[in-house]
Amino acid sequence: MELKNDRYLRALLKQPVDRTPIWMMRQAGRYLPEYREIRAKAGDFMTLCKNPELACEVTLQPLRRYPLDAAILFSDILTIPDAMGMGLYFGEGEGPKFTKQLNDFMDVVQLPIPDPEVELKYVMDAVRTIRRELNGDVPLIGFSGSPWTLATYMLEGGSSKTFSKIKKLMYSEPEVVHILLDKLAQSVILYLNAQIAAGVQSVMIFDTWGGVLTPNAYREYSLSYMQQIVEGLTRHADGRPVPVTLFTKNGGLWLEDIAKTGCDAIGIDWTMDIRLARARVGDKVALQGNMDPAILLGSPERIRLEVQAILDGYGQGSGHVFNLGHGITPDVDPERARVFIEAVQSFSRTYHINTDL
Ligand code: CP3
Repeated sequence: MELKNDRYLRALLKQPVDRTPIWMMRQAGRYLPEYREIRAKAGDFMTLCKNPELACEVTLQPLRRYPLDAAILFSDILTIPDAMGMGLYFGEGEGPKFTKQLNDFMDVVQLPIPDPEVELKYVMDAVRTIRRELNGDVPLIGFSGSPWTLATYMLEGGSSKTFSKIKKLMYSEPEVVHILLDKLAQSVILYLNAQIAAGVQSVMIFDTWGGVLTPNAYREYSLSYMQQIVEGLTRHADGRPVPVTLFTKNGGLWLEDIAKTGCDAIGIDWTMDIRLARARVGDKVALQGNMDPAILLGSPERIRLEVQAILDGYGQGSGHVFNLGHGITPDVDPERARVFIEAVQSFSRTYHINTDL
């Protein structure tokens, strides 16, 4: 089926667009009262993720409210560790936790590589349901965590401030970490290719914790596995390219290396000046970002100014997908998110007038 709005896919491939496309990281989430309602009905977050009809419903909620240019599958990066048998759960008001611990080499060696159409069938069912309900309105983004980021949660047993468990292992028994990362990379390739077969039209890899590494360790433990994934993905489906976006939070120093993986786009956080990012890698890749989500807590005037500054920083022409530099937070007023989206849509047209559409 023809897409009615393909700006997001076109911008990722640096093809001409009439205005800059926009979607928001965590656009389906707790800042929306309608999300909180469905989440309460489901009981807990993972029950919501594992119910394809409810996952579809919350995926579509932000699109009913705002004229966004893409939908993102409602799920979580930790579905893979869960499918490996780690027993993922979210305590009330806490981050993610696992019932199982990884204690030694044997625990890592014994982890299975999940079959996406078996252990993760609920994700593929959600993708199929969402594609049907979207009816070609906007593209659907699929996603996964990076092997490094997934490994941090698995070895730390949840969120961490210091990453001391995984780093201790990295600097004492690096081969154990590599076995885990290799298994995760294989799992992510199968998982993302299954999402593409089920209907996602673009994929994004979230490397939330790559930025806690030294430059050498980043290349060895995070980027090289993302590169393997980029090389293993189905890059064409349904007669069009499936663009791949890599997002390493705090990865601004390493843009050239990230661009060399062969990805189509790089997600950048707000610590990076988008003008500089474009000058460094804009000839190779598109850029996604990069407003600080905290700006959505500011006044409407301030939000508009910051949007203008980012549009101006990127400058003329295609290759920019507007987004936040990280997820929207639960304390944002949905009306401020509307101000943000409308500002991007109305101000960005003048940056595309010289491109022949
Ligand atoms: O963007 C979207 O709207 C799609 C859904 C999505 C979620 N998580 C839903 C979610 C996506 C793309 C993610 C990715 C994800 N999950 C990342 C990478 C992006 C990032 O934020 O850096 C990470 C690190 C996770 C792991 C995770 N999931 C954590 C640390 C937490 C708890 C922290 C928090 O924000 O509450 C989650 C839970 C989670 N994932 C929620 C949502 C909407 C909140 C859970 C709830 O409703 O109670």
